[in-house]
Amino acid sequence: MNLGPEAISRRTFILSGAAAVGTAGAAALLWPANSQGVATAAAGGSDGLVRLTAGTGVRHSFGPGREEPNAWAYNGQVPGPGIRARVGDRLRVVVDNKLEEGTTVHWHGVRVPNAMDGVPELTQKSILPGEKFVYEFPLHDAGTFWYHPHQRSFEQVGRGLYGPLIVEETDPIKVDRDITWMLDDWRLDGQGQISGGFGSRHDATMSGRIGNTVTINGRLPQPLSVRTGERIRLRLINAANARIFGLNFEGHQPRIIAIDGQPVTPHRPDGPILLGPAMRVDVVLDMMSEPGTRSRIRDGFYEGLQYDLTQIHYSGQPLREQPLTTPIALEPNPLQEPTLNGAQRHEVVFEGGMMGMMGGGGMDRERGGGGMMMNAGQTRGGMMGGSSNMMGWTVNGVSASGHVHDPILTLPQGQSVVMTLKNKTAWWHPIHVHGHSFRVLSRNGKATAHKEWQDTVLMSPQETAEIAFVADNPGDWMLHCHILEHQAAGMMATFRVA
Ligand code: C2O
Ligand code: CU
Repeated sequence: MNLGPEAISRRTFILSGAAAVGTAGAAALLWPANSQGVATAAAGGSDGLVRLTAGTGVRHSFGPGREEPNAWAYNGQVPGPGIRARVGDRLRVVVDNKLEEGTTVHWHGVRVPNAMDGVPELTQKSILPGEKFVYEFPLHDAGTFWYHPHQRSFEQVGRGLYGPLIVEETDPIKVDRDITWMLDDWRLDGQGQISGGFGSRHDATMSGRIGNTVTINGRLPQPLSVRTGERIRLRLINAANARIFGLNFEGHQPRIIAIDGQPVTPHRPDGPILLGPAMRVDVVLDMMSEPGTRSRIRDGFYEGLQYDLTQIHYSGQPLREQPLTTPIALEPNPLQEPTLNGAQRHEVVFEGGMMGMMGGGGMDRERGGGGMMMNAGQTRGGMMGGSSNMMGWTVNGVSASGHVHDPILTLPQGQSVVMTLKNKTAWWHPIHVHGHSFRVLSRNGKATAHKEWQDTVLMSPQETAEIAFVADNPGDWMLHCHILEHQAAGMMATFRVA
């Protein structure tokens, strides 16, 4: 087999899915995320409906000898089935809740109508145990997206409820393989089982629940087998509750072609590829080393805790001597361009957390609570000192306790808006906006290189970022930190487009 077992291969998918396309004209197809095997028909029915059943007690194997009997998963697999559709398609998904608690599904990064956004109580009633809900919406944007619950997500996502949603371009760029990697980390105990303590105060006020075991597509990473000359589109999705990845591809020159599903001018990163929780980065990799070469993909985000995520192994005969010269720039998505002249300007300030009072001076990449070496025994809360105003997180001074609250601002539909996001904490935060993608205009007053379209902006301690978008999607929308423990501890707000 020429793929790492963890790879999701587009080629394989198309072969195995071809029959279904022909007969049903289904808007979406599913493929099993954990293997390159035959796409199971289980989820994609002939009625064009995708079925996702959320369940508990799922037996999940992280790898040889690493069985977890109590994962929570869609259709019994971690990640949930990959949904692949074409831009312009309408997606219809029946979600069947077999959990013992309410749930919803949020289509992260997809610009859906408000009622389909999957935020409990705000955009829909929670899907109670035994109930079903049908999500249905058009796919305006091509790109790399994902789905996950928005209710008690720190545990529901943390136990394995998430999956990729890939929306293909009308005219995709030419690559030999299109691979999706959902990155995650797990906090496993000595028996290799998911340790409890979800949402502990300790995690909530510090770096979030960072695990001790990193997986790609739910499995312990296996080397990626490639051939010399091969061009791969690698779609990276960070599904971790809290871990930030900073990836270095040793001996390779990845070019970033999309961030958070949205095309960006192809460019080489000027450092590691950073992925805060919920972020996606699509890279094009031309595999130009000699056959037999082995090189490492390192994650060096947390200082002193660098580790090898996985390796690239060259095998077989070269596919070609020179890299492909076909274009790698993606066609733009139909996003409205904000007009900065006459834009409404608003400030959104994030505060709180342990050491919130220390200011940002010396704190760069914090190490507290994080890292591979962490012992599961550290999950208990109760390490806290300090006063209660250091416990929660706030957005514009308010620590939200549920999904429904007074909007922090109301924007007329069609209004261009510039939001100045101010991270006045000593921690990193990936800030996510629902219903819209935004341009990141500047960071700490310095213009960004590509005015990147994103839906989640990773902010370093004490950083200020300016984002801009057209408030063109009516409804009440969330704006929150995607470190799921931070969100649960108050780092969320809503804004209204009316
Ligand atoms: Cu990925 Cu508010 O969500
Ligand atoms: Cu945060």
